[in-house]
Amino acid sequence: MKILAIESSCDETAAAVVENGRKVLSNVVVSQVDEHKLYGGVVPEIASRRHAEAISSVVDEALVQASLNLSEIDALAVTYAPGLIGALLVGVNFAKGLSYATGLPLIPVHHLRSHIAANYITNQELEPPFLCLVVSGGHTHIIAVEDYTKMKIIGRTRDDAAGEAFDKAARTMGMPYPGGINLDKVAENGNDNAFTLPKPRVSTSPYDFSFSGLKTAVINLIHNASQKGEGLPVADLSASFRKAVVGCLVDNLMLAARDFDYKNIVIAGGVSANSLLRRRLAEECRKTNRGLYMPEIKLCGDNAAMVGAQAYYEYKCGNTASLDLNAQATMSIETG
Ligand code: KG4
Ligand code: ZN
Repeated sequence: MKILAIESSCDETAAAVVENGRKVLSNVVVSQVDEHKLYGGVVPEIASRRHAEAISSVVDEALVQASLNLSEIDALAVTYAPGLIGALLVGVNFAKGLSYATGLPLIPVHHLRSHIAANYITNQELEPPFLCLVVSGGHTHIIAVEDYTKMKIIGRTRDDAAGEAFDKAARTMGMPYPGGINLDKVAENGNDNAFTLPKPRVSTSPYDFSFSGLKTAVINLIHNASQKGEGLPVADLSASFRKAVVGCLVDNLMLAARDFDYKNIVIAGGVSANSLLRRRLAEECRKTNRGLYMPEIKLCGDNAAMVGAQAYYEYKCGNTASLDLNAQATMSIETG
């Protein structure tokens, strides 16, 4: 079954063709990052406009690169939640128009479910059940993936998402948007013991996260130094901050894996590209004899191949939408 998938939840306009949930026939991503960089973050109105301009040619290109006509496609899929509402609406309305014109079934896909599904492409043998850390710009969850479309939230952030904390800390250190990837690179050359930062815990829930205190601690360090006219060693601060964030992610995830007895660990979302997170988890999983599955770097960020992958399993469960499908800014991954 060949699915043409569309993704427009944030600042990438993407389309892909995926066969039977696992084989990528094409994967086109047009990023708006250079434009949003000027403002230090995503400007929702600009994102919607750029999606509207790009979507037709991105979808065309996905078909061309797969060497397929629309008549050879079996179903359409689209990210419909969660995300920036104006951005999501562009993809959803385009997909609805295409479904109306072709009569093809329309499969609505939850954005975080699709991040998890990026792993089915990179790790062809991977099947649920497994425990997954979903870490993106807007979300930080530990999810029990009981089946392809059955998920339970075990832990979540109480305030900022991990990606958001990385981006804000990086911005305060003067790095361009999106800061997470830049901070990760700079941290590679820093001393991660140079600064002692808090390691926040949520006392009532051992699997939940809190990153806002950590982020504020870094911002205060930078502001205090600049008020005194002192410079700060950015590589050392980046390395210390990255170690603190990754430490929280790894500790809670491994605790949940032990308590709920999961043998296989999976990571997903933009922050799953973080090099320290990947190294630390490889080490922990080796020590505790668990399997570790990670998406290849190019599938960690937003793309439509992952949407096509998840859509296959949603379709098999009968999850299709009619033409009254609406985009939604928030939606739990459990109901997704
Ligand atoms: O999943 P994603 O592409 O978009 C959302 O759904 O939010 O995640 C984007 C987030 C951004 O906050 C970005 O800074 C972060 O992922 N990110 C990273 C790295 N690469 C991307 N954070 C830390 N280290 C990285 N290497
Ligand atoms: Zn995402």
